[in-house]
Amino acid sequence: MNSICNLALLGFGNVGRAFVELLERKRGALREQHGIEFRLTGVASRRLGWIADPGGLDVPALLRGQFPAAASANVRDWIAAARAHVVFETTSLNRHDGQPAIEHLRAALEQGAHAISANKGPVVFAYEELRDLAHARNKRFLFESAVMDGVPIFSMFAETLPAIDVRGFRGILNSTTNVILEQMEAGATLEQAIAKAQALGVAETDPSDDIDGWDAAFKTIALSNVLMQGRLRPGDVRRLGIRELSPEKVQAARARGSAYKLVCQAYRRGNTIVAEVAPKPLPLSDPLAWVQGTSSIIQFETDVFPGLALTEVNGGLDATAYGLLADFIRAVRS
Ligand SMILES: NC(=O)c1ccc[n+]([C@@H]2O[C@H](COP(=O)([O-])OP(=O)(O)OC[C@H]3O[C@@H](n4cnc5c(N)ncnc54)[C@H](OP(=O)(O)O)[C@@H]3O)[C@@H](O)[C@H]2O)c1
Repeated sequence: MNSICNLALLGFGNVGRAFVELLERKRGALREQHGIEFRLTGVASRRLGWIADPGGLDVPALLRGQFPAAASANVRDWIAAARAHVVFETTSLNRHDGQPAIEHLRAALEQGAHAISANKGPVVFAYEELRDLAHARNKRFLFESAVMDGVPIFSMFAETLPAIDVRGFRGILNSTTNVILEQMEAGATLEQAIAKAQALGVAETDPSDDIDGWDAAFKTIALSNVLMQGRLRPGDVRRLGIRELSPEKVQAARARGSAYKLVCQAYRRGNTIVAEVAPKPLPLSDPLAWVQGTSSIIQFETDVFPGLALTEVNGGLDATAYGLLADFIRAVRS
């Protein structure tokens, strides 16, 4: 692509900002290695409203927290005002129905933009619809950052493992519970461990989506539905969080040579997919038990590779932003 690509960001929180910073750092590489020139022409959030400038927004000012007045009234006007070629959706997960993110991504595709998201909601509730809409409009719906911070899972299967049959997977996909369980192994109560994880910036102020296994369940569904052609919804996953675990139980497991981890897994059984999120004591010989702190791992079982694993050590916002960047390059080069 030789013309300038207009980018519009919906959501400007931790991930949105990290993405803008990464884009600036990679501007030279995008131009020289991929022939991509870009400018940021739209930014929006609940508090900011719908801000657009087709000539290009002042990125350093945005990062300093200085925003021009919002001029558009809704997502469709905003996409048009920003003349967006790519919409990046990094808003919070709505675990009830994935809205309004799904409607925002639908608008992007219907108005001729690629739709790229870090949000699990649209993948869990509307993967097939958005994939088919993108296909019909000759655009892409991509979401690499939704699971494991942008580690190339979805693109690995789509681009490098053609005609493979994914039979199942198991993994450690939620770093907050991983950090909390380690604190409990060291003697902390659940409440103390949560406070420590919050002090480290790993846990949210309200950590219940992590503690109760929702985040892990949504990741499990996203992987099942995209890689195993499942049609799972949140109620289809057997979900057990870590609330019922006591420090004594976690420590006793460790004394027996096991580590408690919140394990996500899904396997084909006949024509259905059986998916589960639950804390399990894993023997220390299991690679899933080796995963420490904010690291994560996923092991796939396929018809060709009996075991194929991806590990991310100390993931973070930069890695999540990288997933969006890689999706951007994939979209505009396709
Ligand atoms: N943080 C991570 O490491 C990570 C990793 C992978 C994926 N993700 C996913 O990426 C997304 C963003 O995460 P984050 O950490 O950046 O969250 P965050 O810091 O809380 O930011 C969320 C942003 O979305 C906006 N927003 C929320 N609901 C909205 C709505 N209904 N309409 C318009 N804007 C809305 C918020 O705007 P206001 O402040 O104006 O409400 C804010 O700008 C989430 O879906 C998360 O699950 C995060």
